[in-house]
Amino acid sequence: MVDVESFVPEAKTEIAEAVGESNAVIALSGGVDSSTAAALAYDAVGDQLTPVYVDTGLMRKGETEGIRETFDYMDSLRVIDANERFLAALEGVTDPEEKRHAIGEQFIREFEAVAEEVGADYLVQGTIYPDRIESEGTIKSHHNVGGLPEAVDFEGIVEPMRDLYKDEVREVARALDLETVVSERMPFPGPGLAVRILGEVTEEKLAVAREANHVVEEELADHDPWQALAAVIGKATGVKGDNRVHGWVVAVRSVESRDGMTARAQEVDWETLQRIQSRITGENETVSRVLYDVTHKPPATIEYE
Ligand code: XMP
Repeated sequence: MVDVESFVPEAKTEIAEAVGESNAVIALSGGVDSSTAAALAYDAVGDQLTPVYVDTGLMRKGETEGIRETFDYMDSLRVIDANERFLAALEGVTDPEEKRHAIGEQFIREFEAVAEEVGADYLVQGTIYPDRIESEGTIKSHHNVGGLPEAVDFEGIVEPMRDLYKDEVREVARALDLETVVSERMPFPGPGLAVRILGEVTEEKLAVAREANHVVEEELADHDPWQALAAVIGKATGVKGDNRVHGWVVAVRSVESRDGMTARAQEVDWETLQRIQSRITGENETVSRVLYDVTHKPPATIEYE
């Protein structure tokens, strides 16, 4: 386990020495990794760091507002509203890897514009150890690791948490007094809700996925999962009121894991599952069916795409 007391000052020194008198940027996703890296870097170099949060429209419910509040103390924070541009970039895209690619490209475009505007020489990233391992393999293209550094011509990249596991990052976050909504937040993939929607991403599916994920996170918080999520996986027949409907099918998944590389489907009691089902179908007119995913990783992945 990382020794937080020595890690925090060492990481700040590493960042301050790397950045020197120059400017740096960091992409803030709202997740624990980038939030912790941003907090460390802001402590180290202050407003020489511009934290950039791109609101892709693929975020969880309340996430953008949460970011504004949590990082309110950073005067240089930039929040970019790119909802419509992401939806446009995803129009007609159905292949999972193509979706990731489209999101990654758009993200780089948004981020690059700010990096150029502020004249940033350095990129700070919240990359952690498992990201590096998965990126070396061919499992998935993780857009928070690949792409960015090649696209923008930075003088250097600073990755102060490159050797940490997720639970160690949480320790650091707690040591930095980051709010518990950040330090205890479940991991959330860079491409956001897009990998929890099978096929094309549309505004309608996004709205269903956002509400369903919110319900699942709320209802399963006391089960302390590594990740709990909901995915919109297709349509099926159902009955709402007196009518047969062709409604959305939402899959609910809750897993235990240490690092996301392997995971166990969590055993959830029937009462909780029924509460989730009734909230998701009750709060969403267009959802007709809710399933619980009992598959471990492997053979399944945690996300649906
Ligand atoms: P999978 O679905 O591959 O996920 O079992 C393992 C962990 O990685 C997260 N994940 C991603 N994170 N970009 C990310 O930043 C991605 O493209 C991506 N795909 C999966 C996932 O949420 C889980 O924690």
